[in-house]
Amino acid sequence: MATRKLRLGVLASGGGTNLQSIIDNCQEQKIDAEIVLVLCNNPDARALERAEKADLPHLCINHRDFSDRQSFDQAVVAALREADVELVVLAGFMRIISEVFLEAFPQRIINIHPALLPAFPGLHVQRKALEYGARFSGCTVHLVDNGIDTGPIILQAVVPIFADDDEASLSARILEQEHIIYSQAIQLFAEDRIQIVGRQVKISGAKATDETLVNPTF
Ligand code: GAR
Repeated sequence: MATRKLRLGVLASGGGTNLQSIIDNCQEQKIDAEIVLVLCNNPDARALERAEKADLPHLCINHRDFSDRQSFDQAVVAALREADVELVVLAGFMRIISEVFLEAFPQRIINIHPALLPAFPGLHVQRKALEYGARFSGCTVHLVDNGIDTGPIILQAVVPIFADDDEASLSARILEQEHIIYSQAIQLFAEDRIQIVGRQVKISGAKATDETLVNPTF
């Protein structure tokens, strides 16, 4: 009997490498999910080409065609509902989500952020981590709430920062982990293992790592 698949709507604004990793993991049946809609706010997003190539339903809703955030979000919500989306996956989607959107998919919108939240929310965070002199960075998958990168944390991956890193090298190291943990988080939803209690996310059957890291070594 075929496994029931979680219906994903993936929203992207740019390159779409996270989208690509989710496409690949769905196709290879590494996750019990299917992408039923790829939606971009930017007509030039490479993510649209990736969706086209993978033969996935895709749509551009250009935010510039709307006079305010709410009306743009209403159009996005209508498209996601039309496609019967169960989990909304923001994958490099560079728009702030309004209440209209949040209320349409309560606790069913997730985002990936290229830093260890709550450190470095917002934009250009790999550069900010370098400028700050942080020894570690990483990525965070979290639920979206009405703040900027403030929602309950689902999974995080940590990477070291090296003395000779620049923004590009650190971003690439983080991105590699994004491609792993985003699909892992989606699978947790597919297996219905996520429970949200206040600002904490409980994952049934999960246990914390006992690995401790120190950077640098000397
Ligand atoms: C990723 O690093 C993602 O974490 C980040 O944008 C990049 C998109 O890359 N998202 C944010 O900064 C959200 N605030 P991709 O288009 O290749 O997946």
